[in-house]
Amino acid sequence: MNVIISEPSGKYSTLLKTHLTARGCNVEMCGNGKSAQLMINKKKYELLVIDLETKNNSAIEVIRYFRIQYTSVRIFLTMNGREALEEIGCTEAAFYELGVSKILYKPYGEKELDKLLDDDFSLLVTTSKFAGEASFNVNAEVTLRDDLFTRIPADDFFSGNRAPFDLYIRINPNRYIMLFKRGDQISLGRLKWYRDEKKLDFLYFKTKDRSKYVQYMNLLAEKLLRVPGKNLVQKVTVVKNLTEKFIEDIYKEGIQPQLVDEGIKICENIHSMITKEKKLFKLASKMHDKYPTIYSHSFLVVFFSTMTCKALDWSSPYTMQKVSLGAMLHDIGKVNIDPYIMSLKIGELSKVQFEEYKKHPEAGVELVGNFKLVTGEVKQIIHQHHELADGSGFPQGISGNRIFLPAQVVGIVDKIARVMAERKVNAIDGLKIFFSDHENVNRYNRDVVKAFISCFTDTRVGF
Ligand SMILES: [Fe+2]
Ligand SMILES: [Fe+2]
Repeated sequence: MNVIISEPSGKYSTLLKTHLTARGCNVEMCGNGKSAQLMINKKKYELLVIDLETKNNSAIEVIRYFRIQYTSVRIFLTMNGREALEEIGCTEAAFYELGVSKILYKPYGEKELDKLLDDDFSLLVTTSKFAGEASFNVNAEVTLRDDLFTRIPADDFFSGNRAPFDLYIRINPNRYIMLFKRGDQISLGRLKWYRDEKKLDFLYFKTKDRSKYVQYMNLLAEKLLRVPGKNLVQKVTVVKNLTEKFIEDIYKEGIQPQLVDEGIKICENIHSMITKEKKLFKLASKMHDKYPTIYSHSFLVVFFSTMTCKALDWSSPYTMQKVSLGAMLHDIGKVNIDPYIMSLKIGELSKVQFEEYKKHPEAGVELVGNFKLVTGEVKQIIHQHHELADGSGFPQGISGNRIFLPAQVVGIVDKIARVMAERKVNAIDGLKIFFSDHENVNRYNRDVVKAFISCFTDTRVGF
């Protein structure tokens, strides 16, 4: 790595030079800001260490120049204590915004410098750490706005596959390092190292690559599901993450024709997983704990609804697909509800707020109105998932067998999934809490409830 140091103090120049050289860097010193700019015009450098006292041109001018002309160069800024910030009326955040990666305050010694370099360099893992892998480009840091990236759990990627698009890790707000370039072999070793050592649970890709991501995950899921038995956790992880990402997309971007196609593919994968694999139920319910969001709520509803269909012997792929699509989209109407209302629990809503909340099934049907693949049955599920057998539900207050049976399946599963999230319990405890309220027994269809419970006890379905 080529490094420029601009440091007026002899003591600190020596310290920086010694430590960077010891890490294999090729270090060059410069006398002032102007010469730093001239040097970068002539040769490729990866790191600039600059002190705030740098004159002619000033450190701020140099940093600005690098940010505009040479965005991939990392910048460490040093200064005389935090007071130096106050003196120039600036904040740390402003420097980070300007493109500085790290700030180091004087006086600092070997220990502080080592810590900073260890922290930073360890993110830029070189080839030697993972011998035998394709070379890793340590220059690939990019400065781009966070809102251009999409975050995904690192567990989504497994060794042996080629990266379908560029994958990044996030090191600072608006700053990323490319971990795998499109077409690179994804190395499990490197992923595991980042996850375990650096506690980086997430990878990032550019949001413009979103459809490639969904396609890739669908293919990966299909491939995994074809192998019977093994890697059950991996299978559920892939399908779960894919479903959640999909649901997140439709919540954020609205539902579009291409998204409906992808959703159907995902439902097929869930159906295929549930048909082929046993012992899934408990596993999916356990996995809910890690990142509980509205999206994982919807995944659980899809998953449990499909399971319940199987227990009801509605085994045709057509029916299962309709039910899982209905489950996936059941709450889509919530995108139109005031986010503040959505942040409250149902019990916390005022009368007026509850009336607003009750509009989401109808709003959902309107949203999916024009999509051919969203059939009448799917719309009925969306419309009726809050109806209750005793007529106390909404929006229509219909009762008994006037409620479409698949909507009753999604309704009960939705209720249990909400209990699980609110009380932070697994599905079995969710069921116990649910049945401790005797009125619930009459509110839901008994056959459907029985089928749901049988998923936990019936070896045909669960375990
Ligand atoms: Fe709902
Ligand atoms: Fe729901």
